[in-house]
Amino acid sequence: MSYLFGTTSELAREQLDCLGNILDAPTQWCLERGGLSPAARCLDVGAGSGRIANWLAARTREVVALDLDTSGFPDPAPNVEVLQQDVRDGVAGPYDLIHARLVLMHLPERDQVFAGLVDALAPGGRIVIGDFTTRRLHPISTPSPEDEALWARMQYLSHEVGSPARGISFSWAGSTAARMRAAGLHDVHTMEYSETTAGGTDGCLLHRNLNRQAEPLLLSVGATPDEIGRYRELMTDPSFSAWFYQFLCTSGTR
Ligand SMILES: C[S@@+](CC[C@H](N)C(=O)[O-])C[C@H]1O[C@@H](n2cnc3c(N)ncnc32)[C@H](O)[C@@H]1O
Repeated sequence: MSYLFGTTSELAREQLDCLGNILDAPTQWCLERGGLSPAARCLDVGAGSGRIANWLAARTREVVALDLDTSGFPDPAPNVEVLQQDVRDGVAGPYDLIHARLVLMHLPERDQVFAGLVDALAPGGRIVIGDFTTRRLHPISTPSPEDEALWARMQYLSHEVGSPARGISFSWAGSTAARMRAAGLHDVHTMEYSETTAGGTDGCLLHRNLNRQAEPLLLSVGATPDEIGRYRELMTDPSFSAWFYQFLCTSGTR
């Protein structure tokens, strides 16, 4: 099954910017938590626009930034090797640090990919995997009860109907720690990060962006054009606010 979202379109760039604005600080905390060695050889899987790959490159020896489509990463640091490759075809290690943010949740083959990434770790190497859950996407303030119902319906259609049909998992993140332990990794640790988002700010703009990119899928699972239109207005309305996705960032050492 192909990846649902883009990497180089204007919408894809907005998506990756919103993600980075929200998640780079907690991701960097997770990456620094186990210590970053200046001698480390790192792999960033699904590197997207390369913000984390370049950040890692400033703190380690070298970074391989792997993505299905690397044209969304135009300005790699000198010690970043950009690799256009499907991670499902396997990766050749060994790496001292492997990072994958918001990639495995999109891949139906995530178990096999995860096993391959663990195999590619050098002894003592660390893997850091971050993905979203939808456990508490509760609204905080909505302009009307109808808008509150619309928010709930769009989340239901997006996350419980459309996403599973495309092989996207919002439950994988909650199982990553147990999978790391089962794979024999130690010092397994998970950080959960979430914040509220108001209409017009990064989280709501990301919801609107994903809704635009996934419009054919949403229409196919029963969303109406009127619902989609009102939802997008709501995502730019400052009087709307809700909890954003919960981001679980789990790490383990081989
Ligand atoms: C949601 S984006 C996240 C990008 C980046 N990790 C971040 O958090 O900002 C998912 C990324 O994974 C890449 N991707 C999806 N499927 C892939 C695959 N099978 N192999 C390699 N990269 C893949 C996409 O091209 C995209 O850049």
